[in-house]
Amino acid sequence: MLQIKKISVSVEGKPILADIGLELNAGEVMALMGPNGSGKSSLAYALAGHPKYAVDKGKMFFDKKEITELTPNERAMMGLFLANQAPVAIPGLGIKSFLWQIYKKFENEKRMDLVKFRNWLDDEAEKLQLKNGLLERGLNDGFSGGERKKMEVLQMLVSKPKYIILDEIDSGLDVDALKIIALRVKKMVKEDKVGVLIITHYSRILNYLKADKVVIIEKGKVKEMGGMELVKKIEDKGFEEKK
Ligand SMILES: Nc1ncnc2c1ncn2[C@@H]1O[C@H](COP(=O)(O)OP(=O)(O)O)[C@@H](O)[C@H]1O
Ligand SMILES: [Mg+2]
Repeated sequence: MLQIKKISVSVEGKPILADIGLELNAGEVMALMGPNGSGKSSLAYALAGHPKYAVDKGKMFFDKKEITELTPNERAMMGLFLANQAPVAIPGLGIKSFLWQIYKKFENEKRMDLVKFRNWLDDEAEKLQLKNGLLERGLNDGFSGGERKKMEVLQMLVSKPKYIILDEIDSGLDVDALKIIALRVKKMVKEDKVGVLIITHYSRILNYLKADKVVIIEKGKVKEMGGMELVKKIEDKGFEEKK
């Protein structure tokens, strides 16, 4: 279980989140929603251990182990994955060797050899409907927004996380890419019992990847918790009505 126990977060001395408490189980999907500027991304960064997002109060636990003071790399090695909202391009970094390095770093047992790994990768890329030859390029080099998000999914698959945080992975995606990505993540939830914290503004991605819990935050505080019925309410009435 990923536990956030009453954390307060600030950036450069400015308080952003107050007393946030959340629990995400393995194999569970939690949707985090809220108006722009409510602190959703800040919560994602604080969980991932971004040094700019100071946890002034409270604690965080990863399968009962406290992670509040751990570095982002230590958290990643435990199996926490934060998908980038805006993945950058690194033209000089070949995708296949980059992913192979990640794979070797995270997989100690049952490791595939390089040939097997490449075949597996090609297969996953094809299922994600990434164009042929795209993996021969540098990381995200000349990639569209949707292709970059699919690359995030590939990195996720390669590093086999236990918990993933998707910060607006649906932004700028066309419906086809959205469905492909949502269903691939859903498969990870089902087969690998991955826990997913998904930050989104729209119900669309949640039509494919149903949330077990829905949390609304506003002005840095948890405003409401519930199930998919909350998503419907927001879709109909927006955040303002939810007093
Ligand atoms: N790195 C930062 N520097 C300064 N202010 C920040 C930083 N990150 C977030 N904030 C502020 O924290 C608040 C919450 O932002 P954010 O977490 O990005 O919200 P959301 O993701 O819900 O739109 C905003 O007022 C934003 O300006
Ligand atoms: Mg955000």
